[in-house]
Amino acid sequence: MSDAIEYELKGDIAVLRANNPPVNALGHAVRTGLIAGLERAEAEAKAVLIVGAGHTYFAGADIKEFGKPLREPGLPGVCTRIENSPLPVISAIHGTALGGGLEVALGTHYRIAVPSAKVGLPEVHLGILPGAGGTQRLPRVIGAEKAIEIITSGRHVGAAEALELGILDEVEEGDVETIGLAYAQRILDAGLGPRPVGQMPRPAPVDFDSAHVAAMKRGRGQIAPATAIRSIEGACHYDITEGLEHERALFMTLFNSPQREGMVHAFFNERAVSKLPELKGVEPRALKAIGVIGGGTMGAGIAVAALLAGLDVTMVERDAEAAKAGAARVNVILQGSVKRGKLSQSKYDAIMASGFRALDSYDALSEADMVIEAAFEEMGVKKAIFAELDRVCKKGAVLASNTSYLDVNEIAASISRPRDVLGLHFFSPAHVMKLLEVVVADETAPDVVATGFALGKALRKIAVRSGVCDGFIGNRILKTYRSCADHMIMDGASPYEIDKAMTDFGFAMGPYEVADLAGLDIGWATRKRLAPTRDVRERVARYADKMCEAGNFGQKTGKGYYVYEAGKRGGTPNPEVIALIEAERADLGVTAQDFTHEDIQRRYMCAMVNEAAMVVDEGIARRPLDVDMVLLFGYGFPRHWGGPLKWADLQGLEGILADIKRYALADDFFWQSSALLERLVAAGKTFDDLNNGDTV
Ligand code: CAA
Repeated sequence: MSDAIEYELKGDIAVLRANNPPVNALGHAVRTGLIAGLERAEAEAKAVLIVGAGHTYFAGADIKEFGKPLREPGLPGVCTRIENSPLPVISAIHGTALGGGLEVALGTHYRIAVPSAKVGLPEVHLGILPGAGGTQRLPRVIGAEKAIEIITSGRHVGAAEALELGILDEVEEGDVETIGLAYAQRILDAGLGPRPVGQMPRPAPVDFDSAHVAAMKRGRGQIAPATAIRSIEGACHYDITEGLEHERALFMTLFNSPQREGMVHAFFNERAVSKLPELKGVEPRALKAIGVIGGGTMGAGIAVAALLAGLDVTMVERDAEAAKAGAARVNVILQGSVKRGKLSQSKYDAIMASGFRALDSYDALSEADMVIEAAFEEMGVKKAIFAELDRVCKKGAVLASNTSYLDVNEIAASISRPRDVLGLHFFSPAHVMKLLEVVVADETAPDVVATGFALGKALRKIAVRSGVCDGFIGNRILKTYRSCADHMIMDGASPYEIDKAMTDFGFAMGPYEVADLAGLDIGWATRKRLAPTRDVRERVARYADKMCEAGNFGQKTGKGYYVYEAGKRGGTPNPEVIALIEAERADLGVTAQDFTHEDIQRRYMCAMVNEAAMVVDEGIARRPLDVDMVLLFGYGFPRHWGGPLKWADLQGLEGILADIKRYALADDFFWQSSALLERLVAAGKTFDDLNNGDTV
C-alpha cells in the first residue's frame, strides 16, 4: 500500500481513504494506492468505499505531474479497473470532486455526497479535456447536451444540482465517511452489486457540429472546449472501450499543445504571484477600517470592493454634495449586487447601517487602518491630500495612492512618514477587475507591502508587486504595444484590422475598441502630458488628437473609432477615422503598406514582449510571471497563452529577437531590443527559467 491511500476494513466494507494534502490530487502514489487497495479489498471485503481525508475528495489529477513522463498506472486505467471490480464500489464525496476526481467517482458504482460538495470537469481551464473517461461516462449518465455544457464551461456543479442530474445518487448531511459507510451497508443489505456506468446505453447524439462551431467562437482561439465536444460525440458512436481510446487520442493532442502549457502556467502562477519571498515572516498591519478619498467611479468601486470583503469604509470627498454623490454611486453598485444575488439583502442593510459612511472631513479618518486616495491624477492634488492624511491619520496607518502613473516616491517624500506610503493601483471597475498592482516605493516598509498584499487577498484580487515607473508594470507595457499599433496604422493597417487580428489572437477586445470604451480623452491627456519631454524621434498619431479635438471621445460621446447607436451593442467603423488617417499619411508622405493578420499579431506581440522584458530587467517586475499575471488579469490577455512572456517562451525567443531587429531596420528608435531578451537568447534560456530562479 502507498501512504497516500489508507486502507481500513470496517466490517464487510474496505475503506480506501485518500491522504494526499492539500487537495488529494491523484498523483502517482494515490493511483498506485487505489489499485493496491482495490486488490486487497477484493480478497477480503464485500464492498469498497472511496473517501478523502482532510477537507476534500480528489480535486483532480496532480497538475504538477503535467509535462513529466506519464507513470503507470495512468488515471484512465485506474478508473476502468475500479469500474470492472466485482465488488460494489462507492464514492463518498466532500469538498470538491474535480477533473480526475469526478472521473474516479464516475468509475465507482454509487455516489453519495454531503450538501456542500461540488463536482465538475474543469479540464478545459487547463487546456485539456477530461482524459480519464469523463467525456464517455458523464454523457452516459446525464446525456450529451448537459455533458457538453458542464465540460465546456468547466463549472463547479453543486451537490443539489448534481443529484438532480443523476451524477450523485444521494446527498446527506453528516460526516462524509460515516454517511458513506451507512450508504455502502444499505447497498449490501439490498443485495446490490456493481453498476458500471461504462455499460450504460450510449447517449443520443445531438447537433455536435453546431456545438463545435459555437465553442470555437466562444473560445477565441482556445481549442480545448471544441475538442472536448468531439470527444463527447465519440460517446454516442463507440462502445466504452473504443470511446476511451478516442478520448485518449484527443486528450494527448491537447496535452502536448502549447495551450496546455499556457493554461497550467496561469494556474500555478496566479497562486504564486502574491507569495513574495521577501514577505516571508513579515506580518501585515491591522486591516479593518479603510478610508477612501474620492467618490468618483474609481473611489466608489474601491469602496464597494472593500465593503463586500467585510471591511468598514469611510469615504471622504471635498464637500457635502460630492460626498452625497459618492455615496449614491456606492449605493447603486451595491444594489446591483443585491439584484444579481451576489449580496444578500441583510448584508446590504448591515453595510448601509454601519459599515459605510461618506463625509466631507478628513478628521473622519483618524481611526482608519489604511487610506486609499483615488482623487484626480495631478501631483499637486495628491500632495495636498497626503498632507491632510499626514495630519489626521493615526500612527501606523497605511497611506496608499491609487495613481495610475504618478511617481509614488515623490508623493511619499512629501510627507513626514514615507515608510507608510505605497501605491495600490486598482483597475476599473474596481469591484470587478481582479488585478491589483501593489506599487512599492523606495522607502515603503516591508509590513506596509505585506498589508497591501493582505488587502489584495481580502478583496480576492490577484495582487502583483510593481516598482515605481511611469505606468508601473501594466500601463507602461500597454503604452508600448498601443504605440506599436498606432505605428501600424500610420504605415497602412486600419484600426479595424488590428482589432480583428488581436481578438482572433484571443483578446476579449481589440485595442481600439478598448480605447473607445475607456474614453479617448484619457490617451489624449497622456499625450499632452508627455509632449514636453517627448523625444523628437517618437512617432505620435496626430489623427487621434484630431478626433478628440472634434469632441469624439469614444462610447461616451457615441463616436470614436467606432460609431455607437443608442440601444445597439458594439459599434460600426467610423468612416471619418479612415479619412483622418489617410490625410495624415498624405501629410507625412507615407505610402500605405499591406499588413497581414499574422504581421499585425506578431508586431503587436513583439512590442509587448520587448517592453515586458525591459520591465523585468529594470526590476519593476521582479519576475516574468509578475508581468504575465498583470496582463492576464488586468488587460484581457488570453489565458490559454499564459501571459506575454509565456507566449514568448512558447514561440521561441530567438525568432522574436530576430523579428525585433528586423523591425528596427525601419525604426530603430521604437524598436530597441531589450538587453534581457538578448542575454536570454545568447544563453539559450527562457523567461520561465528566470521564474524558476535562474539568472542571466
Ligand atoms: N494538482 C496539484 N496541485 C493542486 C491541484 C492539483 N489538481 N489543485 C490544487 N493544487 C494546489 C494549489 O496549487 C495550491 O498549492 P499552493 O498552496 O502551493 O499554492 C494548493 O493545492 C491549494 O489550492 P488552492 O489555493 O487553489 O485552494 P482552494 O481551496 O482555494 O481551491 C480547488 C481548491 C478548488 C481544488 C482548486 O485548487 C482547484 O480548482 N484546483 C484544480 C482542480 C482541477 O483543475 N482539477 C482537474 C485537474 S486536471 C485532471 O484531473 C485531468 C485529467 O483528467 C487527467
